[in-house]
Amino acid sequence: MSIPQFQHQLPECNLFFGKNTLQKIGQESKRWGKRALLVTGRKSMQRLGFLEEAIECLERERLTSIHYNGVQPNPTVQIVDEGARMAQEKNCDVIVALGGGSAIDTGKAIAVRAAFSNSDSTIWDYISVGEQKACRITSRTLPLVVVTSTSGSGSHVTPYAVITNSRTQQKVGFYSKYIFPKASIVDVRLPSKMSADLTASTGFDVLAHATESIIGRGDHPIADIYSLKAMELVKNNLSEVYRNGENVKARSCMALADTLAGLAITIAGTTMGHALVHPLGARYNLPHGLALALVSSAIWRFTIENGDKRTVERYTRIAQKLGEKIAPPPTREKAMRAVKALNKLLETIGLNKSLSDFGVREEDIGMLAEDAMAYMRVDLGRHPTQISRKNLVSVLEESF
Ligand SMILES: [Fe+2]
Repeated sequence: MSIPQFQHQLPECNLFFGKNTLQKIGQESKRWGKRALLVTGRKSMQRLGFLEEAIECLERERLTSIHYNGVQPNPTVQIVDEGARMAQEKNCDVIVALGGGSAIDTGKAIAVRAAFSNSDSTIWDYISVGEQKACRITSRTLPLVVVTSTSGSGSHVTPYAVITNSRTQQKVGFYSKYIFPKASIVDVRLPSKMSADLTASTGFDVLAHATESIIGRGDHPIADIYSLKAMELVKNNLSEVYRNGENVKARSCMALADTLAGLAITIAGTTMGHALVHPLGARYNLPHGLALALVSSAIWRFTIENGDKRTVERYTRIAQKLGEKIAPPPTREKAMRAVKALNKLLETIGLNKSLSDFGVREEDIGMLAEDAMAYMRVDLGRHPTQISRKNLVSVLEESF
């Protein structure tokens, strides 16, 4: 086995994993500040009692908490700017995000925006869209402590956040080592409360992270280890947690899969799937994991048909990890069994659907492809095959 040359920047993050680790939120936040902006969505954390528990833990460590509950799925520039204004007005010195990927991404974006006092700018100025240059994110960014309530986005262990501009209808990610959480808490009690639908869509995001990072152009043996283990955990546990959300052991495995796949994309990044679903999220407000489930089958087929020897080998490994019994050597035909395994999994979690089932209009396909070409070039560039607008259109048509 030959190991490629690689570089790996280790993040400075205190990661806590396990039941009741939410209790660490005060102790960890205290290391970074005295006044916390606590960022959540409108209802679920309150309803489930986790917000109250978090506030108690913060108060026990003598932190003042200011609650911002404006987070919505596909968080927008307005939501981030509003939260950042609140953080500035209340002199917050640490951002604490409690919730799913949207809450954590909002927290990251607020941490950037709140650190800069210029009221004329917005978070969008810090995001590079296509060729447009962005303002520099620096070490002034506020420190961030996060608690994940889903097993999906991986955002608790990445330096990425994705924000939607509802005016331009663009959903774009940004990257900085300064938004990597200083502390990240994975308390399995929280994702155990997810509904079956949320479990399925967020769980599928985990598989997308694991598979996109392993097929991408950057060969990285550490990312591969994370990805392969994450796939195995998804294969063995996602259908189970979808059917039986009370299975804590399976929930823990999905939480670990989410963490490993998040670390994998931190190293290797995402590819064509994420390039296509950001425009879908921006134009149709589709949940991220669901959108990935709708297009993945066509993407995998396209990539295997057009991929080189390495791509065929990678998809053969994916097929094996998803339960296909395949003997070496890898072939295109064997790699194609990954699509069969994927479709089987999608069926068991109720996501074997098409774009038209969710109101996507056929006449918008060209525009969605153009959006991806315009502002998702980095992800497209990591894909193992060359991608043209025509390829994107045919993948979207096949997913329709
Ligand atoms: Fe994702």
